[in-house]
Amino acid sequence: MGGGASTLVDDLAAEGYTDLTVLDLSSAALAVAKQRLGKHADAVHWMEGDITLVELPAHRFDIWHDRAVFHFLTDPADHHAYVERIMHAVRPGGHVIIATFAEDGPEKCSGLPVMRYQPETLRAELGDAFLLVEHEKAAHHTPLGAVQQFVYCRYSKR
Ligand SMILES: C[S@@+](CC[C@H](N)C(=O)[O-])C[C@H]1O[C@@H](n2cnc3c(N)ncnc32)[C@H](O)[C@@H]1O
Repeated sequence: MGGGASTLVDDLAAEGYTDLTVLDLSSAALAVAKQRLGKHADAVHWMEGDITLVELPAHRFDIWHDRAVFHFLTDPADHHAYVERIMHAVRPGGHVIIATFAEDGPEKCSGLPVMRYQPETLRAELGDAFLLVEHEKAAHHTPLGAVQQFVYCRYSKR
């Protein structure tokens, strides 16, 4: 979710994972990833769309992965729309991995306001259907030399 041009999809394909979907708002970012993957791009399902509006298939995904997307949603209506899509698209027993800015992370990114989370405050956003399985803090070093504190959380969906 919001995979953009990131290389996670390359790594998952190289590890032998199949049935991969990458969704992003930016067609330009998806084009970069597709071009990089070359012929392997045909095995990936690419979706251009806004996660707060997109229609997703029901109970289709085993794992939902979002790094650095949810924290850009600051409007409660967008949170609601995002969680609605997880509820609809992730199968019962599936897993949701979300990495956001941590409580000591930046208050803005690329000039945009962002939210900061702890594993439990993020779980509260997701709702009672989710159980926190594990979490880990990580420091992200930006190309400009700044350090941004992230928290990676994995939840299971009942
Ligand atoms: C900071 S980048 C993170 C990219 C990738 N997940 C990573 O960790 O390298 C945020 C990505 O989220 C995408 N994005 C932002 N808002 C979105 C939305 N409402 N729906 C889908 N994608 C969105 C952007 O286009 C961008 O590719």
